[in-house]
Parts: sequence; C-alpha cells; structure tokens
Amino acid sequence: MPVKRFLDLGKQPLANGFMREVKNELFYNLSYSFDSKLKLIKMDEILPPAIMFNDNYVYHSSGSQTMRDHFKVAAELFRDKYKPNSVLEIGSNDGVFIKHFDKQTTIAVEPCGNFAEITNNMGYTTYHRFWTKELSREIVKNHDKFDLIFSANCICHIPDLDDTFEAIHEVLSDNGIFVFEDPSLLRMILRSSYDQLYDEHPWMFSVAGLSNLLKGHGLEIFDVSSLDVHGGSNRILVKKASNREIKTEIGLLNHLFMEDELGINDFESYIMFSKKVEESRFQLLRVLNELKSSDKKVIGYGAAAKTTTIFNYCGIDRSLISYLVDNTIDKQGTVSPGMHIPVVSPEEGLIADVDVMFLGAWNFTKEIVEKEQVYAKNKRWLTHVPFVRCI
Ligand code: TMP
Repeated sequence: MPVKRFLDLGKQPLANGFMREVKNELFYNLSYSFDSKLKLIKMDEILPPAIMFNDNYVYHSSGSQTMRDHFKVAAELFRDKYKPNSVLEIGSNDGVFIKHFDKQTTIAVEPCGNFAEITNNMGYTTYHRFWTKELSREIVKNHDKFDLIFSANCICHIPDLDDTFEAIHEVLSDNGIFVFEDPSLLRMILRSSYDQLYDEHPWMFSVAGLSNLLKGHGLEIFDVSSLDVHGGSNRILVKKASNREIKTEIGLLNHLFMEDELGINDFESYIMFSKKVEESRFQLLRVLNELKSSDKKVIGYGAAAKTTTIFNYCGIDRSLISYLVDNTIDKQGTVSPGMHIPVVSPEEGLIADVDVMFLGAWNFTKEIVEKEQVYAKNKRWLTHVPFVRCI
C-alpha cells in the first residue's frame, strides 16, 4: 500500500473559525497519511476550500513586521534578479507582496472577497476566484502569459494539485518562472511542530514530493531555498521543462540530499514523528496543570490558526489558558474554535497579573519577545517547539 496513515489529531474545528457567537460549529477528523510513491503527506479528509476561504477570512499577511519585511525583500529580489515584464500572484491576501509591483503589469487571484476588494482598490486587477485551469484559460485570453507567477502559503491549501500545476503551465511564459513558498515538511518533522497541520493544509510538501508532482505537468524545480518564516518554509523556484536556458542550482540538490539523509522518504520517520506529537501533548498538559495547581495565570500570545490544532488535540480550554491576545482586529472579541477561549487585544490582555504566556505564534518568537521585553520582565514564556519548555 503506497498510502499509509501515521497521525490522527482527532476531531477538529476550522482552524481560523474564530466566532463572535458559538453556533453550528463544524468539526471534522484531522488525520494524515504518507504517500510513499509520491513522497508526500496528505490529509485524509479534505474539506471543500469554500468553507474556509470566504469573504470573512481573518488572517492578514501584513499583520506582522516579520512578514511585511519578508515580502518586501522577496519582491526586490525577484525584480532585480529576474526582471519580469508581467507578474501574477495567486492568493494575494491583503496585497503585502503585490504592492511592490507595477499596477499596469501585475494582476492577482484571491478567493477571499474581503482581500480581493483591498487589492482591487489598490489598483491591481484582482480575480475574486479560486485558482483553477478554467480561470487560467480566461486569464491568458485577457492578459497573455506571465514572466513571474508568485504564490505564498497558498499552493498547500489547494486540494487538486494536478489542476493547479496544469493551470500554472498554461499561464507561465516560456522563459518565465513560478515561485512558491509553503511550510517545509522537513522542518515540521525536525521540530515536532504538528500545529502546522490543520484544515487549510491538505498537503505538507517535501521538495522530493513536489519534484515528482511537477514533472508530471511539464514543470521542473531549478532551485530551492530555506526560509525562516511560518516556522520554516521552502521557496521553490520552477521553470518549464522545455526551458533549457535556466540551469539547475545547487540549492535543489542540497535539499533533496538533506531530505533523504534525514529520512523524509521513509515511513518510519513519520511514526517517530507521531510519537513525538503524543509526547508533546503529554508534556504541555503536564506543565499547564502544574501552573494551574500553583495558581499561576497563563494566557496565550497569538491566536494563530496553529493554536486550534494544539488546543483541540490536547483538550486545552479556559481552565488552563485564560484568554488569548492577538493584534488582528477581526479576531478580537471572538472565541477560539472548538475550545472557546476568548480572544482580546494586547492592550486589554497584557495586564499585570499574568504569570506565563504560551507562545501560540511561536513562529514570530523573535519579533514578539523583542516587542514585549518590558512587559514580560517578570513573566515567563511557554513554548512547545521544538519541545515543551518555559523560556
Ligand atoms: P500565524 O502564525 O498563522 O502567522 O498567526 C500569527 C498570529 O499571531 C496572527 O493572528 C497575528 C498574531 N500576532 C500578534 O498578535 N502579535 C504579534 O506581534 C505577531 C507577530 C503576531
């Protein structure tokens, strides 16, 4: 059997399903399998994208300095190195990347209406649609082909990757490049950061797995670089297989070698990972229960989608974490999915009687710890990545 299950995180609600009023909450079973033929991991029960990516989507890419800087540097790099005459972004969110490109030669595709409206108002033609082969044909008719196609934290959200990559091939110019960034399966395994797994991530990509998939659609990876964002991501650079001008870079070979050496292609690695996930739950509950018995007040810093997986898998409710603080206005005044922990603004929640702050947004540890130096002076941070500890 090429596809074998290795992880079951139980009943979960929508990871970004923060609610003002608790009603009709949807739950599904979150489990993943390893496909040893394609060398990919895949969610067993994939939800229809329209349930998650709608006109009230709450995650803003420009909500942190880290991500604003990241996309600015990326845009400058692509502009200087590849000098694209035209740019298409798939999943443009609130325009954090696209705003660095010319409005006349850049277009966007974004399924969430609230964000499509933002980039349209900024002056970028934005298709308020999901990325499909059908849309790609329409785009080619209206705009011709593109020299740079960019997509960050979006391709791993799409259930049908065959359709996705065929559509990319359709709109990519013959000498163009397709660049996409998504969380790295290898980094997740190495850090036991199982909270990367939730409804919006039907896939976690290895470079080996992507290479296999892309080949089937006339596309080839020519370079890969590691990124620190989102807890460890890969930037994958792709060209048409017919393009002989662009040569394969060492980054691709290094990544394939590293993945193989570290066991990403072996099912046993995933069994080890699932054991580490269980251990992480045990340790996190142990620490939180100890803090509770000694009357310490624990709150969560960052109502990240990732926390939904942790809280629901571990059974962490308000008796263990009193509330979450988050700077996203749309999340403030809501309760967290499944466990219904209240979310408040940092101004309201970062008060004197807090003892410990659980780093739900651990991927922004540097930015958050620096920002809260004064407030956190006599308090402690609690993290579960790469293992549970107070820092
Ligand atoms: P993410 O890990 O999915 O990017 O989500 C991070 C969440 O943390 C997001 O809701 C914004 C929030 N956040 C803060 O509240 N304060 C901060 O300083 C940072 C960096 C993020």
